[in-house]
Amino acid sequence: MSIRNFNEDSLTAEVLRRMEKTPNPRLKEVMGSLVKHLHGFVREVKPTPEEWKAGIDFLTETGHWCEDGRQEFILMSDTLGVSMLVDFVNYGKAEGTTESTVLGPFFVEGAPDLPLGANIAKPGTPGEPCAVTGTIKGTDGKPVTGALIDVWEAGGDGFYDVQKKEGTNLRARFRSDAEGKFHFKCVLPPSYPVPHDGPVGNMLTATERHPMRPGHLHTILTAQGYDTLVTHLFVKGDKYLDSDAVFGVKDSLIVDFKKSPSGEYTAHYDFVLRPAMGK
Ligand code: BEZ
Ligand code: FE
Repeated sequence: MSIRNFNEDSLTAEVLRRMEKTPNPRLKEVMGSLVKHLHGFVREVKPTPEEWKAGIDFLTETGHWCEDGRQEFILMSDTLGVSMLVDFVNYGKAEGTTESTVLGPFFVEGAPDLPLGANIAKPGTPGEPCAVTGTIKGTDGKPVTGALIDVWEAGGDGFYDVQKKEGTNLRARFRSDAEGKFHFKCVLPPSYPVPHDGPVGNMLTATERHPMRPGHLHTILTAQGYDTLVTHLFVKGDKYLDSDAVFGVKDSLIVDFKKSPSGEYTAHYDFVLRPAMGK
């Protein structure tokens, strides 16, 4: 068999053949599919050399924009709907449990552990005061005690602490109590633009898209014996619910943040966790 003089069709097969001995079967599957799809993309689009270089430059620039507090590749994955697709293929239908959504680039491991009732917003943080209450249960209706509730949000100015580099703010970890309940204070989550001053922003502009996300509070719930849940609570009535720049909105995650006579907003959500398989 000739292993020279490839043409447009035989080249793909030869690239796949050279990776045939990949010892890790999953890596072999992933690399094989990647090559097939990349070659398919080139066959379909027929990029000129200049266009291919522009694509490489875009990826290079995306890498250069990455630093602490700025992850341009996650942003690209989110704004192209890929992050939500990964979420769908992994978690599928929620079936009686709380639905998941995109993690986003602003989660920070090791947020401060605060007692129930604490305010995650430091004094002077922009935004309207808000109190969140909720419960965490299993599909059997039993409370989940001691679940770790990681929460984070943007301030009223639309920025996360990591974007402002002013120290930890608007993020904390709580534990659910003996009845599976939790409560804490925060600010009303504002709608805000995803970072759009870099290559992903240029892509959004070139495709006539806005960078806005509807107001939301991020949570990750972790409890022994249950699947970890990465999700948001979205603010009912937000004008960007139908055009979220990262495609993360699910009806079941929209919550009424009600304004009380004192001026404080209140929101309540009952989470249902999925029992972990085989744990
Ligand atoms: C966020 O909600 O924090 C977020 C998600 C995706 C891209 C940018 C920000
Ligand atoms: Fe967010």
